[in-house]
Amino acid sequence: MITLGIETSCDETALALVQDGTLLHSVMSTQMDIHALFGGVVPEIASREHYRLLGRLYDELLATSGLTLQQVDTIAVSRGPGLLGSLLVGLGFAKGLAAASGTRLLGINHLHAHLLAPGLEGPLQFPALGLLVSGGHTHIYGIDGPTRFSLLGRTLDDAAGEAFDKVAKMLNMPYPGGRYIDELGRKAVPDEKLFTKPYVDNANLDFSFSGLKTAASLFIQKHPHMILPSQDLAPRLLDGSLDTAEIAHFCASFNHTVAETLRIKVQRALDQQQEQGRGVRQLIVAGGVAANSRVRETMTHLAASNGLNLALPSPFLCTDNGAMVAYAGELLARNGLRHDLDLDAIPRGQKIPDDYSQDGDLKPITGM
Ligand code: KG4
Ligand code: ZN
Repeated sequence: MITLGIETSCDETALALVQDGTLLHSVMSTQMDIHALFGGVVPEIASREHYRLLGRLYDELLATSGLTLQQVDTIAVSRGPGLLGSLLVGLGFAKGLAAASGTRLLGINHLHAHLLAPGLEGPLQFPALGLLVSGGHTHIYGIDGPTRFSLLGRTLDDAAGEAFDKVAKMLNMPYPGGRYIDELGRKAVPDEKLFTKPYVDNANLDFSFSGLKTAASLFIQKHPHMILPSQDLAPRLLDGSLDTAEIAHFCASFNHTVAETLRIKVQRALDQQQEQGRGVRQLIVAGGVAANSRVRETMTHLAASNGLNLALPSPFLCTDNGAMVAYAGELLARNGLRHDLDLDAIPRGQKIPDDYSQDGDLKPITGM
């Protein structure tokens, strides 16, 4: 089975072809440099860029793979959550292809696609516990199968990636700055007491990173010399030609605090699952912040200490990509799902309708 995946939910225009669980080819164009000029994603610009790039990336993908649309069995497209205009560009493109070829169309929950992505690199084992840490979401899920997700905890305010990017912005690092905080932090030993782990003294599985962001902001206000005088100097932050000892120490402590906060909540979720008699077999960690080295180390230890298999995708599969959408599409297609041409985009903040009921039985979906 060959599946085409189309991802346009935010600032990456990405397409990929997956065949029977194997990534064949992928293409991607990031708009980061354009949005960096504004310090964050500008929705109107994002949709226009997707519109400008999608056709030529699609041509490039098919040319590289030597495949034709007639050989594709399923067209899978991120339907949300994301920026509405950006999603509509991807959906419009996917529907055009599906209508022209009669190929199965599938709208994919972008968050579920992140969590299923490690299946491209090794077997997924259910029941799993899933931690999704991205620019827009920090969610903990119980996952009983590719169509059976239950949300157990979520962020009450900023997502982990958002906290990284906002703190990086305070230091005048280019958007999105999570990667800079990660790489600088690797050069220093964290002060484990510099920041209080936010919102852990409770019994729930939710997150709140706004307090940590405020603490980081107060620290930067007291140490303004840490602020980069010009973003043109950003490459020098990483190449060792600037004295970054103090910023590196700050970043290491910040990475540590985020990773520990995630660890505490995931451990709590695992304990709760066990108390409820639900044997978890695998810990899945996904989303852009899963590329963070401290988070990766922490989750690796956590899985080992709980005797769990860990599904942690390679960094290129953590951030937004077309392969995860294609792979999720393949799994849903194997479960018999398809969508009509009236498939809707779902913006961030709105619930994506379940195409399958809580117990995983397929709801009837009419043909195209
Ligand atoms: O999953 P993703 O590509 O897009 C969303 O669906 O949101 O995640 C993007 C987020 C950004 O906030 C970015 O700064 C963060 O992931 N990120 C990182 C790292 N790489 C990407 N955060 C910390 N350390 C990293 N290495
Ligand atoms: Zn994402």
